Amino acid sequence: MVVIISSFYLSSAKLHPQEPPVITSAVPFVGHLLGMIVNGGRYIKSIGITNRDKPIFTLPVPRSRIYIVTDPVLAAAVQRASRVLSFTPLVPDITRRVLGLDDATVAAVRQNLDPEPGDDRRGFLADMHDMMYRTLGPGEALENLSTGAARELSRQINTYAADLQHGQSSGVPSIKVDLLEWVRHFVTVGTAQFLYGPNNPIAAHPELEQAFWDFDHGLGLLLMGFAPSITARKPYRGREALAAAFTKYITAGHESEAATIVRKRVAIAEEYGWPASSTARSELSFLFAGIVNTATTTFWVVLQIFARPELLVAVRGELAQITGEGESERTLSLDGVKNECPILQAVFRECLRLGSNNFSTRLVKTDTMLAERYLLKANSVVQVAGGVIHADRQIWGDDVDVFNPGRFLKPQQGGSARPNVHPAAFRSFGGGKTLCPGRHFATTEILSLVAMIVLTFDLKAVGGGEIVVPAPDDGVLPVHILEPKASDAVKVVVKLGSDGATPLKIVP
Ligand code: HEM
Ligand SMILES: *[C@@H]1O[C@H](CO)[C@@H](O)[C@H](O)[C@H]1NC(C)=O
Ligand SMILES: *[C@@H]1O[C@H](CO)[C@@H](O)[C@H](O)[C@H]1NC(C)=O
Repeated sequence: MVVIISSFYLSSAKLHPQEPPVITSAVPFVGHLLGMIVNGGRYIKSIGITNRDKPIFTLPVPRSRIYIVTDPVLAAAVQRASRVLSFTPLVPDITRRVLGLDDATVAAVRQNLDPEPGDDRRGFLADMHDMMYRTLGPGEALENLSTGAARELSRQINTYAADLQHGQSSGVPSIKVDLLEWVRHFVTVGTAQFLYGPNNPIAAHPELEQAFWDFDHGLGLLLMGFAPSITARKPYRGREALAAAFTKYITAGHESEAATIVRKRVAIAEEYGWPASSTARSELSFLFAGIVNTATTTFWVVLQIFARPELLVAVRGELAQITGEGESERTLSLDGVKNECPILQAVFRECLRLGSNNFSTRLVKTDTMLAERYLLKANSVVQVAGGVIHADRQIWGDDVDVFNPGRFLKPQQGGSARPNVHPAAFRSFGGGKTLCPGRHFATTEILSLVAMIVLTFDLKAVGGGEIVVPAPDDGVLPVHILEPKASDAVKVVVKLGSDGATPLKIVP
């Protein structure tokens, strides 16, 4: 997506012999753009896989070029060169389109995008970035947020289980659901609550849950940015409804009841003199970061576990070790979820590998030699193609296309992990300066939510037989973890598991 936009305004010159090898398209110049628009992430993935001998290549596009990196060693080199290969120059334009920030706020975002170490002029983005990485890095603030999230999600699950039990005793033995929508609801309502407190916009206006997903599903159209109120009507209206509700929330000072990290975010916006309406849009982007990938990843992990009876037994076995049985409640240890469930962890990582086609995108600020070998021209875009690296047989082995969590377990844990997988080969959280700051939090949150679902419910295929796992839909432009096609929606029957009627309590 970033590619398409950047290529409209970036200037270019003739290719230099030291630039990475060129892959031409069937239709000169616009062919690659058309390919990406029509075939989404799958387009670059197939080019990358057929050109596996090239660790980096050049796609010429009108007035510019895009360099695609498909090798972990070069990916690490891109990450290290963050001074000249930077994501931040692209941020103002992306946020303007996606969040609908006004001109004055975009101009403020543009100030001092990449301060050098020791520079005393600061910028909004740099301050926000530093605060986020500090607060979401290992430490007490992270522990507090993870505990708060798990407790809130356990309230959601316990309430649902109590309703189900009530239904079962009055003759409704089970409920049929769309698994993705079912998981999304817990994550959307729960995240709004633990991040933004009891007066969060979604609690105040439940119809905003739908608005949120309308916004999410129209992100591509908003990013294109051609008269969005007309071409992207549904996502535009969803976003505007959310922005209005967040503006009211900020104006009323409800963030005083929010998680520490939200209070710090709002404080930074205030320091820079942002009006409530702009702070509201910035918070919408954080709510988005907190919900979307978490919901979709939890869906895949739950699905893969319940689709495999032997895996379900193994995961329940791990969880039994970290669950305590009382009379009126069961306890689930967060520390245990983090440290004593290697199989669950491996399923999580394998779902992220298969579900993430994402690119790490950087603008080349000045002509740069990458790894002393490839010339990258100023004002072009470099993208590390996560989807290609995640599908590389040479990295992951011949079973690269199938779900095999054992590849993330060492032989002594009963797995088949290869010894020399480069750390930059796992791209689902990005890498370098844009490595997801929420990754520790997201891991604990997702694993604990999966644990609660596995310990509370039984999920069966509608009509009997085994649950079928659809392929992720890679025909879209990847902006987050892939979903299945709408026509492949997974329908399951939800029942209480054998201990499901006893509420779960989260303990450290
Ligand atoms: C499975 C779940 C998640 C995945 C796969 C994921 C992945 C990513 C990726 C790939 C990026 C980098 C984007 C880029 O390279 O441009 C990113 C950025 C970010 N993520 Fe996550 N994320 C997840 C969950 C979360 C959660 C739960 C939070 C918040 C609590 C979060 C907060 C953020 C933020 C704030 C950024 C922007 C960082 C910046 O300022 O550069 N993420 N995430
Ligand atoms: C974590 O929570 C405890 C208890 O509510 C509180 O006293 C402490 O200040 C919090 N720490 C941070 C870093 O937010
Ligand atoms: C994917 O990439 C886009 C653009 O670089 C970024 O905004 C988004 O957060 C990324 N998300 C994931 C899950 O990789």
